Order: sequence, then structure tokens, then C-alpha cells
Amino acid sequence: MSQNSKSTSFQSIKGFYDILPEATPLWFKLEDVARQVLSQYGYQHIRMPIVEPTELFVRSVGEHTDIVEKEMYAWEDQLNGDKLVLRPEGTAGCVRAVVEHNLTYNGPQRLWYMGPMFRHENVQKGRQRQFHQVGCEAFGFDGPDVDAEQIVLLARLWRELGIEDVELQLNSIGDADERVAYRQTLIAYFEQHADLLDEDAKRRLHTNPLRILDTKNPRMQAICEAAPKLMDSLGDASQQHFEKLCQLLTEAGIAYVVNHRLVRGLDYYNRTVFEWVTTKLGAQGTIAGGGRYDTLVEKLGGKPTTACGFAIGLERVALLMQEYGVTANHTPDVYLVNVGEQAEAQAFGVAETLRSDGLSVVLHAGGGSFKSQMKKADRSGARYAAILGDDEVALGEISLKPLLEQGEQQRCLLAAVRSLINFESV
Ligand code: HAM
Repeated sequence: MSQNSKSTSFQSIKGFYDILPEATPLWFKLEDVARQVLSQYGYQHIRMPIVEPTELFVRSVGEHTDIVEKEMYAWEDQLNGDKLVLRPEGTAGCVRAVVEHNLTYNGPQRLWYMGPMFRHENVQKGRQRQFHQVGCEAFGFDGPDVDAEQIVLLARLWRELGIEDVELQLNSIGDADERVAYRQTLIAYFEQHADLLDEDAKRRLHTNPLRILDTKNPRMQAICEAAPKLMDSLGDASQQHFEKLCQLLTEAGIAYVVNHRLVRGLDYYNRTVFEWVTTKLGAQGTIAGGGRYDTLVEKLGGKPTTACGFAIGLERVALLMQEYGVTANHTPDVYLVNVGEQAEAQAFGVAETLRSDGLSVVLHAGGGSFKSQMKKADRSGARYAAILGDDEVALGEISLKPLLEQGEQQRCLLAAVRSLINFESV
């Protein structure tokens, strides 16, 4: 390096985080359990690009939503003028992919995805600008059985992750035509109480009045509680859909609370909407949300296809797992200490042999005395130090010393290491 070069250190930008090695075992656990549960329900994995056309979200999530109005990382590509965005959520891209590749040609599809999403939000605990979701979308099922299936799937996921006490909130927001009449009723109601509306509500009154019901402002709780309920103006088909869903959930032993004010922050929903909420994470307590969106596929250029889905916020779920004391660690089976000329020369091959036997092996690199290598073995978190000295090499053997538990050091043939380690851990 040049003597004159100035060193500059960088930090990740606000709201964007590194997930460090000490945290990744818990993430692996979360992702592995999610993968396993989703495949148990027959969901297939799909991966969509992180960058999509801006217009995709304007048309699907909705022009007058927080996401589109103020939270998108959107820009114009300097090379060709394309209007692009870092995806703020996964549903729109998934629908685009389904339509583009005609994935429902041979019948309904159950899909899931996992990955980063981006929203330029105010940063706080459980709310980042880059966050990760596992999302799940079912296409071509009219429901409500598939709505119930996704909720039951989530209940299983929480159980298997060691998470308890998450409340399922449920509502029906009916179909678009049912909402038109309700919208007018709601605007008229809020206009009567205009003096009690905050700035946000005033702004939304004529663009997205249903979202006013979702407000967290304590001063507006009373008027929102007393507002006319959308559920009361639903037609028969929507009512029956909701009643059947409730019945299926009750039969499946899933507790729920009907929250008449739950409308969700994205415009594509109709009929069923739901959220899973915990009180353990402060203000950002919603760990998953979803619902039906029966008109979105057609709106994005596909054949009319009903749909239902949800997404889980992985950072929030990881925080909640920690709250419940769930731990995970990934420790190597063996730290391979090698001292002596012969041993050093053989260590690489020995490590490969042990790995071929299915063990995870950290090979000591960089030389050093036996004592200093053993110190590193201790610090590595490995279950055993496998010691290779010139004596061992001569006999085709290796010495094993337990590091996490009391126990005698013993010498064995290389081929016996795996069974010895597995035997001792039983
Ligand atoms: P959403 O409610 O916007 O829905 O996000 C789903 C979940 O992602 C939230 O419940 C939350 O756990 C997590 N989340 C959202 N924003 C953030 C953030 N800034 N920081 C951390 N976590 C966050 C959707 O995204 C829909 N696409 C869900 C869906 C799929 N509906 C139908 N299919």
C-alpha cells in the first residue's frame, strides 16, 4: 500500500444492516424451518429480481399508499431512461412472474419466496429500510379453504420456531364494488368529525379513507372505533366467504380476533385480510400480514385468477425468537491441530477425509506451537480438537480431545473418528 494513501472507513447506510456471523445461526434456523414448513404444505419456491419497473408497484400496491407515495427507492436508469425501483414487497413481482411465464396454465399454483425488500421508512426497532420477508402466494384457489390453509401454516411455523402468544387479527374488506358505497359512508362520517382528524387523516380523507381506520394516533381512536363498519355493508358472497373462513379456523383450533379496523396498507386486497401481532416488540408488533387479492392478476395483464398470500417480516420474527429464548449455534465438530513437519504436510488430506465422512472440520492454518493451536481450538467452539502429530501420522491415527465436556484424550484410527464422535455425543 502507498505511504500516502489516506484510509477512509465506511458505514452501512441508515436503515441497512449487516447480519453478522454471531446472528446467522438463528437466521439459518428460521429460514430452514420456514423452508421445511412451506414445502410440507406443497408450496414451491420462486426467486424474482430485486429490481422491477416502478409502474408495477404503482399499479398494484396503489398510487395513494404510503409505500408508493413516499417509501420507494425509485430512480431513472441513466443508461436507458427506464424507471426502476428496489422492490418494496414481493407480491407484485410474483404476480408479474406468474403472468409473464403463464405459470397457472396447468392449474393453480402455490409459490413462496424469500429475500430483501426496501422501503424508505423512519427507522426504529423492527423497522428497517432493507428488511427480509418470506412470502407465500397461492394462485387459482377461490378460497376460503386456501385462506385458512395459509393461516394454519403460519400457526405451525410459529409453533416450530418456539414463538408463542401471537394474536391473529382477521377482517374482511369485501370486494371493490362493496367498498365503493362504504367509502362514501366513511367519508361522510369523517367529514362530520373533521375537527378531530389529524393531518394524516385529512390528507387521506379523499384518497384512501379506509386507511384512516388504521391510525395509531391515540387522539383518533374513539372516532375510528365508532365509525361505520365495512363488514356491515358486505354482500352475501363476501359474508359467506368470511363466515366459512372463521368456521374452518375454529375447526382447526386457531384462535382469532376480528378487527374491524384492519384494512392493510396495500391497495390490492379484497375480502380476507389478516395480521399476526405480538405485544413483545413494541410499536412494530406485526410479524406477518396478508390476505386475498382476487383482481390483481387480471390487473397486471393476466387471465382472471383468484389469489391469496402473506409475508412474514424475518427481522421481527428473529427478534421474537430471541425474546422467547430460542438459541442456535453452528459449531464445527473438529478443530484440526497439526504439529510437526509430517503432520503439517498431511493435515490437508486428513481434514478432507474427515469432511468426506460428514464431519465439519476447521483446519488450523498458519502454524504455531501445540499450545497456541490448542488455545485456538478452544476458542473455535469446536466439540473436539483432533490432534495430528508426527507420531499419529506414522501410525495412521489421530488423537481426539473433547473441548466442550470433560473427557479423556484418546487415540483412534482416522476411519473411526466419525463414529467415535457421534457415539460420544449420544
Ligand atoms: P406488509 O404488511 O407490507 O405486506 O409486510 C409484511 C411484513 O413485512 C410486515 O408484517 C412486517 O413484519 C414486515 N415489514 C414490513 N415493512 C417492514 C420494515 N420496514 N422493516 C421490517 N419489517 C417490515 C406485504 O408486504 C405483502 N406483500 C404481503 C402479502 C403477500 N400479501 C399478499 N401476499
